[in-house]
Amino acid sequence: MIEMIKASKVYSEDVEALKDISVSIASGEMFFIIGMSGAGKTTLLKLISSMEAPTSGLIEIAGQPVHLLKGYKLARLRQKIGVAYQDFKLLTDRTAAENIAISMEVSYKKPQIIRKRVKDLLAALDLTDKHNKITGELSRGEQQRVTLARAIANSPAMILVDEPTGNLDAETTEKVIKLLTKCNKSGATVVIATHDDLIYRHTPHRIMELQKGSILSVIRGNGL
Ligand SMILES: Nc1ncnc2c1ncn2[C@@H]1O[C@H](COP(=O)(O)OP(=O)(O)OP(=O)(O)O)[C@@H](O)[C@H]1O
Ligand SMILES: [Mg+2]
Repeated sequence: MIEMIKASKVYSEDVEALKDISVSIASGEMFFIIGMSGAGKTTLLKLISSMEAPTSGLIEIAGQPVHLLKGYKLARLRQKIGVAYQDFKLLTDRTAAENIAISMEVSYKKPQIIRKRVKDLLAALDLTDKHNKITGELSRGEQQRVTLARAIANSPAMILVDEPTGNLDAETTEKVIKLLTKCNKSGATVVIATHDDLIYRHTPHRIMELQKGSILSVIRGNGL
């Protein structure tokens, strides 16, 4: 599904955020990217989602070189990718429900289907009472969950999540993991960048550790 071949990202002469990253993530896999602050986790997700272009190397999704796609081909690919950004990027003057509904409205889902999906996602993330609240007035932890709900609402084939639990307590973190696992079990490829060992401690899935832009290790979690 995702193929990175010797991908590098140099932001400026002295900031080499990623160096020669080669990794292959299978369709339907759940995959964790860990590493210290500044290790390159967000940059890697941005290369996959084509928000940033690699300085060198190749990134393919479903056989297509993402950074070379343009126009409708790029738009079509982006529709298949749900991204929960580390800095949320919510429409802060719109309600939680409106933010979550956006990706479904863009793909012309029926209003009653959208309403039900929004309601179910808010319930799964313990946000039922925030349905009509403007997201700019929500706490960071609440905004973070709305961001996640928006990313997965349209059931994309690929879900990229950046620090999904940075502002959450253990109980809410558990709900987020449950929801992402459910998406993965329904067939989505899920890539999660995180500092939070609560998320990957018990995972049976692969974990890649980045250090200063390079791959330190890729191990399979023991699922304990
Ligand atoms: N837009 C940018 N312009 C210049 N440098 C950047 C930019 N984005 C990131 N960097 C630099 O690239 C390196 C990797 O940053 P990145 O955000 O990918 O790390 P991260 O692993 O996601 O960190 P964190 O855990 O703090 O989110 C850092 O040294 C950072 O300062
Ligand atoms: Mg980051």
